[in-house]
Amino acid sequence: MTNRIERYSPGGNLDHTAKLYRAMAAVRHPQVVAHTDRVALLAEKIAITLGKDSKAAFFAGLLHDFGKIVLPDTLFDGHDISGDEYAEIKTHAISGFDILGEFHMFTAMCAGLHHALYHRGYGLTIDDFPKGITLPLIKKVLETATIVSICDFIDAYTHRKTKLKHSPASKGKSEGKTLRELLLAQYPGDAQLIDLALEANQEFAEVA
Ligand SMILES: [Fe+2]
Ligand SMILES: [Fe+2]
Repeated sequence: MTNRIERYSPGGNLDHTAKLYRAMAAVRHPQVVAHTDRVALLAEKIAITLGKDSKAAFFAGLLHDFGKIVLPDTLFDGHDISGDEYAEIKTHAISGFDILGEFHMFTAMCAGLHHALYHRGYGLTIDDFPKGITLPLIKKVLETATIVSICDFIDAYTHRKTKLKHSPASKGKSEGKTLRELLLAQYPGDAQLIDLALEANQEFAEVA
C-alpha cells in the first residue's frame, strides 16, 4: 500500500497524510485500516474503469474514515453496538471533515460526505461546503464521494460483523434482500456504478 501511495505523488503532502493515517490507525484500529485499504483499491479501480480521477478516488477511499481514529477502538471490535454507540460512531464523518479540511479540502469533503449520499444518511450538508467552491469542483467531489460511498457500503456489508443491537425495523428491511437490492434502495440513481462496483469487488475477492 505504501508503494501505491508513493506512486501517485499527490500534491500538498497528501501522501504523507495517508501514510501517517495508516500508521496511527494501525495502533488501535487495525480493522479500520484493512477496511480503508480495501475501499481505496476498489474506488481506484472503479475510477479507472469510468475514466475518472483515480488518484482522487484512491486517496478519498483511503482517508474516508479518518475521523474514526479519534474514537475508542472498542466501537470497532465487532460487537453488536447500542444506539448510543452508533450515535458516537456517526460523528466520524464530520470529525474527519473537520480535521482533514485544514490540510486537504477535497479529500476532507469526500470524507464528510461518504455517509451523506444515501437514503437517510448523515454527515456533511451543503451548508458545510467551503465558501467560494466552484461548481465543477463540487461536481467532482460528489462524483468521487459517491464512488467511495458505494465501495464503503459494499465492503462493510461483505466484511463487517458489527450490527446495531435491538433493531428489528432495520433488520426486517434488509432481510432476504441481496446486496445489489440493498444498494439500489440506498442509491437509486446509480445502478451502473453499483454493478461496476459489485463486479470489481467480486474480482478482488477471487484474487484474494
Ligand atoms: Fe464511514
Ligand atoms: Fe468506511
